[in-house]
Amino acid sequence: MRKNIIAGNWKMNTTLPEGLALAKGLEEALKGKTPKCDVIIGVPATHLASIATAIDSSRIGIAAQNCADKEKGAFTGETSAAMIASTGAKYVILGHSERRQYYHETAQTLKTKVNLAISNGLTPIFCIGEVLEERESGRHFAVVDEQVKESLFELSAEDFSKLVIAYEPVWAIGTGKTATADEAQEIHAHIRKTIAGKYGQEIAENCTILYGGSMNAENAKSLVAKPDVDGGLIGGASLSVEKFLPIIESF
Ligand code: 13P
Repeated sequence: MRKNIIAGNWKMNTTLPEGLALAKGLEEALKGKTPKCDVIIGVPATHLASIATAIDSSRIGIAAQNCADKEKGAFTGETSAAMIASTGAKYVILGHSERRQYYHETAQTLKTKVNLAISNGLTPIFCIGEVLEERESGRHFAVVDEQVKESLFELSAEDFSKLVIAYEPVWAIGTGKTATADEAQEIHAHIRKTIAGKYGQEIAENCTILYGGSMNAENAKSLVAKPDVDGGLIGGASLSVEKFLPIIESF
């Protein structure tokens, strides 16, 4: 059975004291509750070790938001997958549209990052999604297929089974516009079918596919009620416990 997950992506927000307070506040709010999903927070690289020490990471998984495409060595300013894993983080968000757009990450680079993440024991949360013009011209199915195929389809079935996919239509990120639950279901089912075509029905059925893009307490319930929407990757609304908790409780 595939896992339901609600993951926060804090992006480049919070100083270390603010991040620690947010993580501890979330842990406190979850005390005595048994969420029907795994809970993950994607925190800035500078916060990973401190947050991993401050909270029980078996209750709230910790994710980095990127990793280097090199193993180690003279790459000033980069953070390797091994370094991330050594902090206690278990996940890494890869291929976010902001990284593709602003830092020119290519399918090839992302393929290398996914491989390094998996070989260092991290679970990649691999983001895909089309821009507005691609949706309006009806190319969104082809775009996500290409993103998945180019970066992931050389993985062994065993390694592919380790990752999580996040469908994030770029036009819905930070815009207040969400895909409708029906639109999300349609493309999630399509992605699952593409996976089944390569790795077979069982692996496709077990793959967690998250929705991301202006997900909030109001729209989360209808999104996660869809059979192929296994949770969410949440930006803005993950920056406050009051907004994030109801999304966790939407299952
Ligand atoms: P928002 O929830 O702020 O739209 O961001 C979504 C996102 O990019 C998560 O990775």
